[in-house]
Amino acid sequence: MNSYFVTSNDIKNGPSSNLNITHADGDYLYTPSKKYLDLRSGLWNVSLGYNKELTNRMKARFDNILDNQIPYIDINSYDTPDYNLYASSLLSFMNDGVERSDFKSVTFTNSGSEGVEIGVKISQDFAKHVKKEGNKIIVFKNSYHGTFFGSMSVSHKFFGLEHAYETANNVIIVDPPINEQGLNNILNTIETNHLNISSFIIEPILGSGGSISIASEYLEEIVSFCKKYEVLTIFDEVSTGFYRTGNRFAHTSLKNKPNVVILSKSINNGALPFGAVIIDDYTYRCLEKQNINHFSTQSGNVLGISSAITTLEYYIENEQQIKHNVQEIEKLVYLYSSKYSVEITGKGAMFSIPINDLDKVIRIRETLKNMGILVYIYENIDNTSGITIHPNLLISQKKLEMALNILFRKVAESL
Ligand SMILES: Cc1ncc(COP(=O)(O)O)c(C=O)c1O
Repeated sequence: MNSYFVTSNDIKNGPSSNLNITHADGDYLYTPSKKYLDLRSGLWNVSLGYNKELTNRMKARFDNILDNQIPYIDINSYDTPDYNLYASSLLSFMNDGVERSDFKSVTFTNSGSEGVEIGVKISQDFAKHVKKEGNKIIVFKNSYHGTFFGSMSVSHKFFGLEHAYETANNVIIVDPPINEQGLNNILNTIETNHLNISSFIIEPILGSGGSISIASEYLEEIVSFCKKYEVLTIFDEVSTGFYRTGNRFAHTSLKNKPNVVILSKSINNGALPFGAVIIDDYTYRCLEKQNINHFSTQSGNVLGISSAITTLEYYIENEQQIKHNVQEIEKLVYLYSSKYSVEITGKGAMFSIPINDLDKVIRIRETLKNMGILVYIYENIDNTSGITIHPNLLISQKKLEMALNILFRKVAESL
């Protein structure tokens, strides 16, 4: 029996899988006896794979910081050049090639959940600032934004569960739009209730909900409509950020940019707990009047910042290769899903296979695990469920092709 427990797993057990990971390399995780092709990118964060070159670069930077004996700096009280270096590099990465570059300022977090927590607080401060009558937040059905109280309160995935906490739940739930009618329902909801709505928190592709992709033209209209009605748009790009959808971000292709973007996971290839919240000029000006009441001791952890700087440099240097590989990943997923006539959702390097029978989904995951392939499973409160794959963005196409052939064959056999 373990002397530790994993929150959200059964307290008597440790991790949900019995794999004892000893090391990793490239596309693979290793146990003492076997190697596994990781089609989950860790938990969607090791997007550059178990990447020796990146790790070595991080090591060199960490050495420098530790040689200077700075295990910790209090960002509330002191400054170090890396804070500004990273924030300005991230802003220019987000604004690059964009006609109207509105992103203005960055704050640092330790996780995606914390970033969403800040998003919820921004929403409430904004509602006060523009004198809204209420501060409801619109969220999508089956959304997942994390497990802190604020982030849980906007995660539809938890609502009505037997073991649900009493979160604020001050939300309006709308269906992710799949057609014009769906879009119009959302626009009507905004128009009718805008005096009571502070923000719309959006996963541009609902990751945990089963890779439900929202068409760019719908996102464009939603953002534009929200601007008209003084409703903040907060894009949770914790899972879609950093090329997962093919572009730098899911919002990159939009003319209308969200007011707030939340990032984590791939921001530093999962090396340390780290994230960022980026706000635009409009939000900045609103918040100038009132500080956000939020702080965590480890905000701006110096090693976290330096891991993110190293990862961002790597993304920029390898952008063409990453983008090309994501296109190839997408093509291969389409190819093998159609070869075996299996339905898929998602895009880029973020796909799900809806199966809607949890026992079957678990059986397929275990079969694949025994064959050396690791996939993720999703499950929603409306009983939809399936398999999700997030291959690393640089995965070997040959290895992926072999794995997809097995994966789709096994799914097809089970249907
Ligand atoms: C879209 C989205 N938002 C927020 C989170 C929460 O991030 P974290 O687990 O780092 O708190 C996740 C995690 O899976 C996510 O996918």
